[in-house]
Amino acid sequence: MSNPRILILGPPGAGKGTQSANLAEEYGVEHVTTGDALRANKDMDISDMDTEYDTPREYMEAGDLVPDAVVNAIVEEALSQADGFVLDGYPRNLDQAEQLEGMTDLDVILSLSVSREELVDRLTGRRVCDDCGANFHVDFNPPEAEGVCDECGGDLIHREDDNEESVRNRLDVFDENTAPVIDHYDDREDFVAVDGEQSLDAVWSDIQDAVDAHTA
Ligand code: AP5
Repeated sequence: MSNPRILILGPPGAGKGTQSANLAEEYGVEHVTTGDALRANKDMDISDMDTEYDTPREYMEAGDLVPDAVVNAIVEEALSQADGFVLDGYPRNLDQAEQLEGMTDLDVILSLSVSREELVDRLTGRRVCDDCGANFHVDFNPPEAEGVCDECGGDLIHREDDNEESVRNRLDVFDENTAPVIDHYDDREDFVAVDGEQSLDAVWSDIQDAVDAHTA
């Protein structure tokens, strides 16, 4: 079988980025993440797309969705070049889900669930490497030296949208827009619900079992 095509869904802070890094390494697939792609292009001029704001930055700092036209183009380009992937951060609404159906088939859909208050704690305590993007948490997954990435020695930063106000808005946006995407997929044979509130290792073990069962 060719390299797996994996979709990972879940609310902000569920562990999508953390587990996607494991998946990319274990299965040799590309980590396609709309969040990182947009953060790398926060100030691109999108005014010709008839959007409310002229750049993605304003949407992201408030925790709102960046307009579909911008995100669909990023994903289509990334998937067209990937030999197997883990797709993280997309689709985030039913229109994006419809677009994705025209871009690729999927081998397995993973859905991580975590309670709201745990998500707030995870996101407000998250630290991200400014160089390689590795994720840490001040309490749940601390780096060996405070403020320094274990992977590459880069600086760890607190994301601008990881303040409590933006986090709570991101969770509301998820409930309104993205929870219906999970309902849209959850009766498919390739859909697997994973308890994301377990330890990092237990979540990873369940994810590997799910991917292996659907790609063997
Ligand atoms: P994005 O970057 O995708 O953010 P998100 O969905 O809010 O997801 P996060 O990266 O915050 O969480 P995660 O699930 O990856 O959790 P992580 O592994 O880091 O999007 C940002 C913004 O971009 C959006 O708000 C929007 O504006 C825009 N955007 C992106 N995609 C878009 C789209 N398709 N359409 C429109 N707009 C879009 O884990 C979190 C923390 O918890 C870490 O500190 C980690 O160490 C810790 N942790 C993880 N797992 C565990 C565990 N099992 N136990 C304890 N701690 C854990």
